[in-house]
Amino acid sequence: MDNQAFPTRPKSIKAAFLRAFGLALLVIMSVFATAIYMAEAKVRDRDLAERAPAVAALFAVKLGKDSALMHAVGHAMMGNAAIAQAFRQRNRQALEDQGRELFEILRTDHRITHLYFDLPDRVNLYRFHSPDRYGDKIDRATMLQAHSRSEPVNGLELGPLGTLTLRMVMPWRQGRQHLGYIEVGEEIEHLISEVSATLAVDLAVLVNKRYLAEPQWQQGQDMMNRQGDWSRFASHVVQAQTMTGLPATLDETVLARLLAGKTVKIKDQGRSLHAALAPLDDAAGHHIGELLLIRDISDLEATFNGYMAVVILLSLGVAAGVFGVFYVALERVDKDYQRQHELEHRLLRMNTEHQRILQLEKLSALGTMVGGIAHQLNNPLVGVVNMAELAAREADDPDRTRELLDEIQRAGRDCRSFVRRMLEFSKVSRFESRPTPIADLINDTVLMFRQTEARHLPVAVELPDPPPELLIDPILVRHALFNLLQNAAQATDGQAGITIRLVAGTDEDSGAPGWSLIVADQGRGIAPEALDKLFVPFFTTRSDGTGLGLPVVQQVALLHHGHVSARNRPQGGAEFALWLPR
Ligand SMILES: Nc1ncnc2c1ncn2[C@@H]1O[C@H](COP(=O)(O)OP(=O)(O)OP(=O)(O)O)[C@@H](O)[C@H]1O
Ligand SMILES: [Mg+2]
Repeated sequence: MDNQAFPTRPKSIKAAFLRAFGLALLVIMSVFATAIYMAEAKVRDRDLAERAPAVAALFAVKLGKDSALMHAVGHAMMGNAAIAQAFRQRNRQALEDQGRELFEILRTDHRITHLYFDLPDRVNLYRFHSPDRYGDKIDRATMLQAHSRSEPVNGLELGPLGTLTLRMVMPWRQGRQHLGYIEVGEEIEHLISEVSATLAVDLAVLVNKRYLAEPQWQQGQDMMNRQGDWSRFASHVVQAQTMTGLPATLDETVLARLLAGKTVKIKDQGRSLHAALAPLDDAAGHHIGELLLIRDISDLEATFNGYMAVVILLSLGVAAGVFGVFYVALERVDKDYQRQHELEHRLLRMNTEHQRILQLEKLSALGTMVGGIAHQLNNPLVGVVNMAELAAREADDPDRTRELLDEIQRAGRDCRSFVRRMLEFSKVSRFESRPTPIADLINDTVLMFRQTEARHLPVAVELPDPPPELLIDPILVRHALFNLLQNAAQATDGQAGITIRLVAGTDEDSGAPGWSLIVADQGRGIAPEALDKLFVPFFTTRSDGTGLGLPVVQQVALLHHGHVSARNRPQGGAEFALWLPR
């Protein structure tokens, strides 16, 4: 059958599934990659966010350590009798003579840059780092706090030039006498270098411009030989830094985001930098600026990107593999599906064809039946008409008339017997089964047959021992057996006997167990051209046959869910088998 007869080709399962699968895979992969990227950014942010307090803490620790050193210096001065005497006598030269050597050691070895001796009214007596300046009143926060609290005070202080100094002011008492104050200080730029080296971040000190005036600040830059840019940021000025210069990309907007408490990723000459701020407070508690942390995350990012590439490639590989496997499997499923679809269509067509053939067969059977009935009735009726005409013509001859009337009567009887057989045939559809001893049924039938058969042909019966009881309609089976015996006798010319056998046998098609009731004769056998028409109603080869005997047998078999078969025996004669399920 050709395929083009079926225009509806089923949709490809493969294409539909693979499209959906591919899309799902794409979505999963992109979600996966995005999730990893976001996780990485989060880890990076948290790392820097945790590093900022660590920087602040380490810075505080270092300030504390240096403050402790300053305390020690203060005590060392107070414990030195010669210095104490010079201070009490307010003798600047004697202070210089006694303290210079110690100060120089502190300056070179411990970065102490400031050493003051101040009087109880906070007026400066002597500055070791600037001996020519004295007599001024000190009113920095550390001094004021030490003065009012009468105890040592230390803290950061922002000088007018922009320098950040760690200062320690210690009141000096001897007995009940208040001699004045010792003040020690250091510039803290070296501290940010140390913290930067320890925590592997670059640092910068940003001072809020609110606490500075540009001319003094500029003067400080000149003094320290620096080229600071006052206008780089609107709000802050860079006072110290561990890198050679702040990245150009760190602009006003980035600073604004940092001041809002965020961490920011910036690019600088191909490097990826990550920045955050930590607050910077002075001794008076003013928030004077920020410590800027900058972390170079280029290596980290490159490593991560490398891993990402590997992971994505691997995932792509796995996805491609899975896709391939699905493709091959679905290709097969698709083919099977197409084949099945085609088969279904064929079957549908064949079914329709079959229905049509059945319909035609029914019509043709009806035609045969009507033809058979017409034929069966026509012969005697033609005889009746002819003989009646003859009788009319020869009415004056009473003997001839009687003879013709006898003929007419015989023809009429033939018609009646045919009609009776037809009625018998129609009765066969009434079916009532009950357990029936088969031996009795066969014997009764044989007896009846022998009474109707003039030649009294011998009939042999072979039954299993003990003969079984079958669940059958005895009237119908007797009727069928009688027909088979009649046919056997009609096919036998001489005196050859007939055999009836009952054997256990399974159905060839279904394998169901059952019994075969077999009638075998030694007659003429079935004509080859008659073999496939035996069970067609009205098919007969006999002049006086109606062709209803075997259809009756078949109907009986079907009513019992059995079947009937016919064959010629090799040794001559025919054999009919009626199979009934057990
Ligand atoms: N035992 C047999 N041996 C040979 N041919 C047979 C045998 N039984 C039946 N046939 C053939 O089958 C035909 C149909 O048989 P069936 O019993 O249906 O009708 P019939 O015997 O011709 O007529 P009816 O039984 O109605 O008197 C017979 O005409 C005959 O040709
Ligand atoms: Mg017959």
